[in-house]
Amino acid sequence: MSYDLVVIGAGPGGYVCAIRAAQLGLKVAVVEKRKTLGGTCLNIGCIPSKALLYASEMFEEANHGMAPLGVVVAAPTLDHAALMKHKDDTVAANVNGVAYLFKKNKVDSLTGEGSIRSPGKVVVKGEDGNEKLLETKAIVIATGSDVAKLPGVEIDETTVVSSTGALSLPKVPRKLIVVGAGVIGLELGSVWRRLGAEVTVVEFLDRILPGMDGEVAKQFQRLLEKQGFAFHLGHKVTGVEKAGEGVRATIEPAAGGEAKVLDADVVLVAIGRRPYTHNLGLEAQGVAMDRGMIAVDQHFATNVPGIYAIGDVVRGPMLAHKAEDEGVALAEILAGQAGHVNYDVIPGVVYTSPEIASVGKTEEELKAAGVAYKIGKFPFTANGRARAMRHTDGFVKILADAATDRVLGAHIVGFGAGEMIHEVCVLMEFGGSAEDLARTCHAHPTMSEAVKEAAMAVDKRAIHV
Ligand code: FAD
Ligand code: NAI
Repeated sequence: MSYDLVVIGAGPGGYVCAIRAAQLGLKVAVVEKRKTLGGTCLNIGCIPSKALLYASEMFEEANHGMAPLGVVVAAPTLDHAALMKHKDDTVAANVNGVAYLFKKNKVDSLTGEGSIRSPGKVVVKGEDGNEKLLETKAIVIATGSDVAKLPGVEIDETTVVSSTGALSLPKVPRKLIVVGAGVIGLELGSVWRRLGAEVTVVEFLDRILPGMDGEVAKQFQRLLEKQGFAFHLGHKVTGVEKAGEGVRATIEPAAGGEAKVLDADVVLVAIGRRPYTHNLGLEAQGVAMDRGMIAVDQHFATNVPGIYAIGDVVRGPMLAHKAEDEGVALAEILAGQAGHVNYDVIPGVVYTSPEIASVGKTEEELKAAGVAYKIGKFPFTANGRARAMRHTDGFVKILADAATDRVLGAHIVGFGAGEMIHEVCVLMEFGGSAEDLARTCHAHPTMSEAVKEAAMAVDKRAIHV
């Protein structure tokens, strides 16, 4: 079989690249070793985690959030099987959706492990061991990432789990230890805490959510503690052993000191993800690597002509929308157009309650770069809609260039933050200023008025604080 483009990996990077390339008239095949399409994100990542986050948030609302509104319901009970069915049905609808889109766009889908025999030749090895050779003008590697392992700790996906096991626990653990206060730890920790688990987080650094704005992380930690999370910051796990039905973790201060022992039913290891580059034939082809990632230029080209890479397997944030945008840009480049990704405007959202959303520079980054900036902040306690919904936790923070007023970053802790952030993304994409945002009429009463007021606060003219 001969193609213009063969994509290895059908995650958000690979499947979106394939569809866009087919739209532009290229003959495209996608090779995926998993039985279903959609990659980590649709099968064991973004989508199932959000299904559980939503359901568990409803459970917590019914438990604690509704009575103060005058809606009195009996204490909810959990139908664990129905919860898992909701998650599995959501995944199935999404992965089948990708299969439908492949058919609609005439993208050939092959199941098997892909590897590069030589530039222009991809071998697909099926489960039965049979091999098929595909000839192609271009190869896109979109093989994503895999769980980072904690040395000496074996993940069995029953008592010591990665995110994958944590999405399918057979019952709510009484006690859950989460190793790593990053996005996965706090999202999946939230799911099981809302459903009744006692959650203790062990984090190596002295803060949660490294990389996010420090003030946001601090306030968010306080909110999580109010919800019942316990944190051991500045600690590392030095060992995990089975103890009866459960597990025992030994932790030590990162700087050295006395060890402590924590017992739990389940330990979730969430200390990051690593690019997945095994068995692709990269070494034999001489594809250059950069700290475990595939090295690419700004057009996603590796050092070997005809071989490209996108998504979690290359530099940049490991996010589905970043992978998708790279997929679109690369397809357009391969079709002779001018595809481009603006890495300065990639939002990041943590889907907890409240949500955290961020785009552009943090205060710490601006300080480190020596950029003079102005800050505008507005708390949701002063927003009418937030009060009406009893969602007053959090604030909006806008960072603007001190000289030009151009918006350089925005950070939101609050209900619906993940939706609100996008007006700032559009503003930043157009190089807009805090004044542009402040002078844009926002509907009343909406949570988004807090974004406008934060922009007004940059110039010390917020009305409602
Ligand atoms: P992947 O989605 O990892 O897809 C790669 C595919 O390649 C896989 O299907 C794999 O089977 C296949 N593959 C690998 N090697 C081969 C081979 N040799 N031959 C054939 N196929 C191969 N991101 C967000 O933006 N928002 C979220 O809410 C979010 N939530 C997440 C929650 C969890 C629990 C996890 C684990 C991740 C989450 N992410 C989220 C991250 C997101 O899933 C990744 O950034 C995204 O999936 C990366 O896309 P990708 O296309 O690069 O790779
Ligand atoms: P992460 O990088 O977000 O967080 C890992 C945390 O573990 C860090 O705080 C780190 O300091 C800590 N850590 C590392 N080693 C440790 C050790 N030995 N002991 C204790 N703590 C240790 O990684 P995470 O949460 O595993 O997520 C992986 C990727 O998946 C992220 O890069 C993220 O982009 C993506 N993701 C995105 C989501 C979203 O966009 N909502 C949701 C879930 C995942």
